[in-house]
Amino acid sequence: MTRVAVTVNGEQREAEVEPRQLLVYFLREGLGLTGTNVGCDTSSCGSCTVHVDDEAVKSCTMLAVQADGRRVTTIEGMAAGGQLHPMQEAFRRNHGLQCGYCTPGMVMAATSYLEENASPSETEVRQALEGNLCRCTGYQNIVKAVLDAASPERVGRAIGDAVNGPEGGA
Ligand code: FES
Ligand code: FES
Repeated sequence: MTRVAVTVNGEQREAEVEPRQLLVYFLREGLGLTGTNVGCDTSSCGSCTVHVDDEAVKSCTMLAVQADGRRVTTIEGMAAGGQLHPMQEAFRRNHGLQCGYCTPGMVMAATSYLEENASPSETEVRQALEGNLCRCTGYQNIVKAVLDAASPERVGRAIGDAVNGPEGGA
C-alpha cells in the first residue's frame, strides 16, 4: 500500500491505496464521491472526467498515486455556496441531460474546455467533447448548454442557425 495526500474539492484527503488503484476508484470507493461515473473503464467514454490541477482528466486513465500532492475537483466540488456552477446551471436550463449518466463528465470536460476557449463555435464545442459519449445521444442540448455557459445571449442564434439556417425557420 502507498500513502497518498490529495486535495479533493478543496479538502486535504489522505489514504493508503494499492499502487495499481485507478483514481476513479479512489474517488468513488475510497472517498465516497460517486458523482464521478465509470462507463467503460478503458478511456473511451469520458464519464469519469474530473479536473486534476484544473485540467480535465479521465480518471480511469490515471492512478491514484499519480494524484499524490495534486488538486482534484469532482462534480461534487462544482457547486459553491448553494449555487450550481454556471455550467451545471446551463445544463439544467437547456435540458442538457436525459438519464444523466454522462453529465458529470460532460460538465467537467466542458468547464475545462471553456477555460481554454471562452468563446467557442458550435463546431469547436462538438470537437472538444468528442471524448465524452452520451449513450442517450442527447448531444444537441449538451452542445447548446455549453454554448449557453460560454455566452448566454447567443445560444439561440448559434443552435437556431445550425437547425434552421441563419434566417430562422419553422
Ligand atoms: S470510464 Fe473513464 S473514459 Fe469511460
Ligand atoms: S444523458 Fe444519458 S448518457 Fe448522456
